[in-house]
Amino acid sequence: MEHPTVDGAAFHAAAPAAGPLVVVHPDAESLAWAAAALFVEEARRAVETRGCFTVALSGGSSPERMYQLLARPPFSGQVSWAKVHVFWSDERCVDVHDPRSNESMARKNLLDHVPIAPGQIHPMRCRAGAGANGPRDASSSADDYEHLLRSFLGATRDVGGAWPSRGERGKRERLDFVLLGVGTDGHTASLFPGSDALRETERWVTPVIAGDGPGSDGPVGAGPDDRGGAGRGLWRISLTASFINKAASVLFLASGRAKAAVVGEVLEGPIDPERLPAQLVRPQSGTVVWYLDDDSAALLAGRSSE
Ligand code: 6PG
Repeated sequence: MEHPTVDGAAFHAAAPAAGPLVVVHPDAESLAWAAAALFVEEARRAVETRGCFTVALSGGSSPERMYQLLARPPFSGQVSWAKVHVFWSDERCVDVHDPRSNESMARKNLLDHVPIAPGQIHPMRCRAGAGANGPRDASSSADDYEHLLRSFLGATRDVGGAWPSRGERGKRERLDFVLLGVGTDGHTASLFPGSDALRETERWVTPVIAGDGPGSDGPVGAGPDDRGGAGRGLWRISLTASFINKAASVLFLASGRAKAAVVGEVLEGPIDPERLPAQLVRPQSGTVVWYLDDDSAALLAGRSSE
């Protein structure tokens, strides 16, 4: 399958029905530069048309270099940070100072270094521990974040009790830009193979527990994709695929030879989202692009390279 190349402008010209756009960069560093440039372009476009830019950051290690690049010139000076609101695609239920925290990684590599007001950073805070109250606490944490999203994105009644018009609600019930990674098991955000969360169509945010393989939620053990062993038995909260698919733009980042097999399966293999949850990400009217490098694209039949 031929994968067209894309730049910032073409990114929006792509017909969603065309499926994912795939851009192959020579290496992880050029992938990170291109991803930072796309973030700048998406932010410029959103601020120009709507006065603000809402973005959900991904965890994992793939976006770290992109965040570091955005935190310094030339990119840092090209973003209207006063108009940016930061959310997360998913979060592990750990203390914010825990090295496994996705919020901690984003603050360390980006948010602590740019002029963005604390009130514009909306972390996913999850109180669930491993004890008996874990399910209830994880679910209420997910509900709290969903309420935050709905309130912020204007999908709730206005002060007069009236709902925004349907057209207006539709436009505002979505994020401008969602960043995602992909695990070697095919998960994205915290949507793991066989997880009940894959079938969630109403909630925007769902609790998930890292469990023992199919039928329960989460990776078996702390796979290579889990920074600091965020595997078995750890509660997480995650945006659902149905909410991610409302986004205007979705960017997957995957670099390195370890991701070649899963990238090939997700993009060119049979459609099997129970086994490969990343295949669930097909925005209804938005666009999805995969930024790969030569190593992670090594098994793709149709390739373009920048
Ligand atoms: C998380 C991430 C997760 C990540 C993938 C890829 O909280 O772990 O949201 O979905 O994006 O596991 O991780 P790497 O980028 O470290 O390979």
